[in-house]
Amino acid sequence: MAFATLSCLLLALCVPAAARSPRRPAAARSRRASLLAMQTAGAGGEADSVAARLETDGVLSGLTAEEARLVCWLASEEMGQAHLFAGWSAAAPDDKRRLLRQVAEMDARYPEDAAGARGLAAYVSHARTLLAESAADLNPFDGYTVSVPRDGERMEVGTASFRADEARGGAMLKDTVFVLVAGGLGERLGFDGIKVALPAETLSGATFLEIYCTALRAIEEREGGRKAPLVIMTSEDTHALTEALLLEHGYYGLQPSQVHLLRQANVPALGSNAAAFVASEEDPFTLLTKPHGHGDVHTLLHGSGLLPAFAAEGRSHVVFFQDTNVLAFKAIPAALGVSERLGLAMNSLAVPRAAGEAAGAICRLQPPAGDGLVMNVEYNQLDALLRSTGGAGDEADGSGYSPYPGNVNTLVVALGPYADALAASGGAMPEFVNPKYADASRSVFKKPTRLECMMQELPKLLPAHATVGFTQFERWFSFSPVKNAIGDAVAQAAKGNYAASPGAGEAAVYEANAALLRLAGATVEAGAPSSFLGLTLGLSPPISLSPRFALTTDELMRRVSGGAAVRISAASALELDGDIELSSLDLDGALSIRASPGVSVVVRGATVRNAGWCWESVEPGAAGMPAGVSIRGYALRKEGGVQIELQEPGRYEVSGGGVVTRL
Ligand code: UTP
Repeated sequence: MAFATLSCLLLALCVPAAARSPRRPAAARSRRASLLAMQTAGAGGEADSVAARLETDGVLSGLTAEEARLVCWLASEEMGQAHLFAGWSAAAPDDKRRLLRQVAEMDARYPEDAAGARGLAAYVSHARTLLAESAADLNPFDGYTVSVPRDGERMEVGTASFRADEARGGAMLKDTVFVLVAGGLGERLGFDGIKVALPAETLSGATFLEIYCTALRAIEEREGGRKAPLVIMTSEDTHALTEALLLEHGYYGLQPSQVHLLRQANVPALGSNAAAFVASEEDPFTLLTKPHGHGDVHTLLHGSGLLPAFAAEGRSHVVFFQDTNVLAFKAIPAALGVSERLGLAMNSLAVPRAAGEAAGAICRLQPPAGDGLVMNVEYNQLDALLRSTGGAGDEADGSGYSPYPGNVNTLVVALGPYADALAASGGAMPEFVNPKYADASRSVFKKPTRLECMMQELPKLLPAHATVGFTQFERWFSFSPVKNAIGDAVAQAAKGNYAASPGAGEAAVYEANAALLRLAGATVEAGAPSSFLGLTLGLSPPISLSPRFALTTDELMRRVSGGAAVRISAASALELDGDIELSSLDLDGALSIRASPGVSVVVRGATVRNAGWCWESVEPGAAGMPAGVSIRGYALRKEGGVQIELQEPGRYEVSGGGVVTRL
């Protein structure tokens, strides 16, 4: 390529991204990548010398003019990525192209920021600013005062006020949009697959995604066929597997048109405070990339055009939930009711937070000047923040817990104010960076970092008059995330914390179901804890209650119409899916009833006794067993027991030792 042509192409390289892409009304904004948008403007000597050097060194050999322009842009002072081209003089053009294609794609997909800058130039510029602030150890909340949010509710499951909010919210489910953020890598879990493909519990074997889809089917069954939309945010790491899981299982009974997949783009990993991109160790022509954080969900929803469509269908709220906290679905109806009663634009589900616990806290933050806001404060910032304002730090109050509710990152958002706020901001979320430094100089990272954004930072986009609050539930009822591999899980348990392993999540589900049956008046004996892979779990009795059996606590109470006439021994296993009423049941063994749509079952005068199903140890990775089960170190041996599956619509009775009679 002639140098004159190249320098002409390079004229734009010294122009800041914001200047190349001035902020315009959303409708007029071009979606073109920033590097493709480069036009001639403001030549610079630096650009010329970069181009000349690269050409002399043979870095550009074999590349087209467009590709050469991209290399020069990356090597410019603005981008600072010249290190990527060491060794390129001897490299094959196809290898070079691989890296350039990856860069062009990330450049095109990185969203426009609030100042109108976009593409990787904006990413690098944001990164340098945030990394410099982090290296200087700046406190983002300097001068703020903190208080407990005013608008919120601390719930006790089963009380009259809980039931009133749950009834109010239960009626809103049909007008709710469900948004699952499922783009995370799950590095801590170390499972070689997507997290939503794991069984939430192994008694029914239903995967997380299946349970979420079943909950939406349950809403539809109760609402005369009105379908609730499901949006799933995937990432480059999870998209293909999520799509394949849905296809393999026929969308778990949902209509494909009901499910909307939005794929977030990865961003380049950063190896230094100068925001240097990092090439993979295995392949120097591939950049290391990572997901940009779950905050992308707001940007993608805004850009998808789905929000106006949902509003036109009469949807009033959007619920954001995480991939593995399946118990959150028990709490969502009551939280919706609180949102409606208190007029909340945003409502964070929370649990009581122990002082010093590694969980974010929902706080009211008041800056020295301007409007305050209610928002999550990360646990590693909370103590310093509270002390800086003269308080005692992250300590418990008279309740034994921190006064600040512990954020579980399930968010209930009112659709109208949400869509308006995104339209006003262009949908871009504030970013942060959290490098792990190798030494006190804060200039070397232990491993590459990246910019991220968090969905709970939404209050930063909402107008000052929007009411933001929380709904706190007891942990046993609403908290069962699965995040940790067994090593970390055992370490957490040793500290007295929730272990967050697949087994711990499963035990939490069984314990919650047992507690809810007890609340309905049933007797459920607690079994002895089991220990697998060094982790002690309360797995007995395993009880699986699908959302089609009960979507709300109130519904569960009605299903267990017999109250004290329902008794479940510690040696039992009980699985219920569908329209089933427990009038009188004495269970000492295994019983499974699955009722298809149109089937209704009453369990009356039933005394079911058999050897039951038992937990047995398995080796993680054991042959012939799905990895999502063996990862737990145990499996349920299902031999014998009573298993009833009813598909023909009609009314049935289960009595005696499990005899089925058509009524
Ligand atoms: P987690 O905190 O569980 O992080 O994310 P993770 O990335 O999935 O797992 P680790 O940290 O690598 O072990 C909370 C929720 O946010 C989603 C996750 O899928 C999970 O539902 N998430 C996270 C995204 O959708 N995108 C992201 O970029 C990050």
